[in-house]
Amino acid sequence: MQLWKGRFQKALSKTTNDFNSSISFDSRMYKEDIEGSIAHSAMLGKCGIISQSEADAIGQGLKDILADIENGTLTIDPEAEDIHTFIEGELTARLGDTGKRLHTARSRNDQVAVDIKLYLKKQVDEVSSLVKGLAEVICNKAYENAETVMPGYTHLQRAQPITFGHHLLAYAEMLLRDLSRLDDCKKRMDVMPLGSGALACTTYPIDRMYTASLLDFADVTHNSLDGVSDRDFCIEFASALSIIMVHLSRFSEEIILWCSHEFKFIELDDAFSTGSSIMPQKKNPDIAELVRGKSGRVFGDLTTLLTVMKGIALAYNKDMQEDKEAIFDAVDTVKMCLTAFTPMLDTMTVLPQNMRKAAAGGFINATDCADYLVKKGLPFRDAYKATGELVAKCLELDLTLETLPLEEYKKICDIFDEGVYTAIGLEKCAYERSPIGGPNPDNVRREVERVRAMCNVQKPK
Ligand code: ARG
Repeated sequence: MQLWKGRFQKALSKTTNDFNSSISFDSRMYKEDIEGSIAHSAMLGKCGIISQSEADAIGQGLKDILADIENGTLTIDPEAEDIHTFIEGELTARLGDTGKRLHTARSRNDQVAVDIKLYLKKQVDEVSSLVKGLAEVICNKAYENAETVMPGYTHLQRAQPITFGHHLLAYAEMLLRDLSRLDDCKKRMDVMPLGSGALACTTYPIDRMYTASLLDFADVTHNSLDGVSDRDFCIEFASALSIIMVHLSRFSEEIILWCSHEFKFIELDDAFSTGSSIMPQKKNPDIAELVRGKSGRVFGDLTTLLTVMKGIALAYNKDMQEDKEAIFDAVDTVKMCLTAFTPMLDTMTVLPQNMRKAAAGGFINATDCADYLVKKGLPFRDAYKATGELVAKCLELDLTLETLPLEEYKKICDIFDEGVYTAIGLEKCAYERSPIGGPNPDNVRREVERVRAMCNVQKPK
């Protein structure tokens, strides 16, 4: 049933109806549509635009519809044009003429805009709490591994010694920024468009601030054209979600590398890995790979939203119906990824000996060897050159800086003495990097406390 059929002589063709309909994806906003309508009718009653008894009847009718949808006695009609039409139609079927008064001083254009904001505000909170859940697991693992030495990498080549806890906390920092982006995006979402009408507000004496207070919005939109046609909040949310996926995909990539035989820094729990149908030896990190792959979907959703919105003349145009599938898919995907990723990380086994072994190869203490010479008075550039020659010598003799005899050191630079072996000890090299932001174990433990406080999570009992 179309609510706008007054001027039309013919029914909509089936293909047009199917093409035009958004019920298959906007029915998930039934609760927000009803919430919005309850507030709108209460405001109409308060302002004397409809009678108080009509407002009460509409409010009760809408509550009954909500209860019936939730207890399964009312099924949302898949043939309806959209969720707004369906609910208003159902209300009218139940209340007759009174139901028909609900849409006074309102358009589906401001209605849909308010519904999406109400829905997405809740989703921002849900995504934030999943992000905090992941940060919590990162903190626990980082605390346990505050002293676990591993090689830090640049160009995927072993570079300098760090602690595994410090490496993990890099992701906690990304998540803290994600949380602040979500928070910020919610602030701009928290502005009620209802009352903008189709595009030009209304001549009825509505009280928008009252409706906003009922719906718990911080403010109302201040331009009706913008109110109905703004979808920045979808784009911003999709951007924040895309950046979360960038972070998850980088973390996934490292998990994939770390559990390969080439690294063997971690082992994933059986419950979070899969086998191969043909190769019996395989244990595949499918969750991490899927998360990495699903980042593409979310970036696609962001691109969809940007492309749909670009070049649309003011105010509402039907193009904008395309916003919902994109933003809903982005939200669903990110929630699913976080839900799968967090327990996978929580149950992984860390293999510190393998990390330590990898740290002992690859000359990752070469910088510290040069620094040792600098502390003995050599200019850094000379120290750098001498250490480079030492590395070449080690390669030639198939030795490491730890196993190279002191006489070889002395041949290259006679300042060296026994103290060099202490200076290039891997634990020392990792632990003594202690300025704020460094891999030192006390730093790691302090940063864990900071992240926990910012995410409002407790340390495990
Ligand atoms: N289903 C529509 C949407 O999602 C609702 C708004 C319809 N407004 C209109 N003028 N046709 O955007």
